[in-house]
Amino acid sequence: MIRAFVVGHPIAHSRSPLIHGHWLAEHGIAGSYERLDVAPEAFAEFLRGLPTSGFAGGNVTIPHKEAAFALADDVTERARAIGAVNTLVVGEGGRVRGDNTDAPGFCAHLDQSLGPDWPARGEAVILGAGGAARALVVGLAERGVARIRVANRTRERAEAVAALAPGVAEALAWADLPAAMEGAGLLVNTTSLGMKGQPPLTLDLAPLPAGAAVADIVYAPLETDLLAAARRRGLAAVDGLGMLLHQAVPGFAAWFGTRPAVTAALRETIVADLAR
Ligand code: ATR
Repeated sequence: MIRAFVVGHPIAHSRSPLIHGHWLAEHGIAGSYERLDVAPEAFAEFLRGLPTSGFAGGNVTIPHKEAAFALADDVTERARAIGAVNTLVVGEGGRVRGDNTDAPGFCAHLDQSLGPDWPARGEAVILGAGGAARALVVGLAERGVARIRVANRTRERAEAVAALAPGVAEALAWADLPAAMEGAGLLVNTTSLGMKGQPPLTLDLAPLPAGAAVADIVYAPLETDLLAAARRRGLAAVDGLGMLLHQAVPGFAAWFGTRPAVTAALRETIVADLAR
């Protein structure tokens, strides 16, 4: 039986077991996907023990993504650019390979929601400068988005994120957002604003052109104030759940040998769980 895991601390809230469990059942694969709670001080030992653990690999979540990047035997170019690993695969000779699937996951989600020509919609404006923003800047640049502007409460962090795609991305003062939005084809929130228990993200979307799309990576709640405002303006609105679902695809394919699809049925399963 093939075994995979998600490791984090805490880990009880993770939806990944539900996603992978759905796919295991769908494809009739006799495998398991387990939640592992590993404290930061025990993570290095956990990773060192992986080749002999019986696991084919797994997902890595908060707070271990940077440590996984530092400790993996090999990392993909994309993971190196982002500086974080969310997917581990135990490969030939017990080498642990680290990848970051957040960026392709987000892009695949946009492909499915907006159609594959979304990079041609125009400039992208990214709000926030945490790990998700890093992944998005790398992913959008990879997909050929011509210009990316990063706005963050703390300007220096926006500068650091923009530096990941030199010549394509640049930092922006929060106060300059309205002007930047005038030329944007895509606006994405990666801050925690709008998340359950956090303050809402209140942004006047009026400056966005009619063809712009608005995406949120917050998925609890699914319909954030930002997305509601986008819909009111008649703009395409892309919720945060898709990124969570799509980022899981490459790991499942690597461990279990079957490339799963992000279907409406999977989405419904997770939406139902989020509503509980
Ligand atoms: P990630 O989950 O993407 O790794 P993170 O590193 O926790 O996230 O960053 C959260 C993001 O939300 C940051 O961009 C943060 O802004 P700062 O870099 O200035 O801290 C942003 N954020 C959180 N609370 C915020 C608030 N009240 N107003 C504006 N931005 C906020």
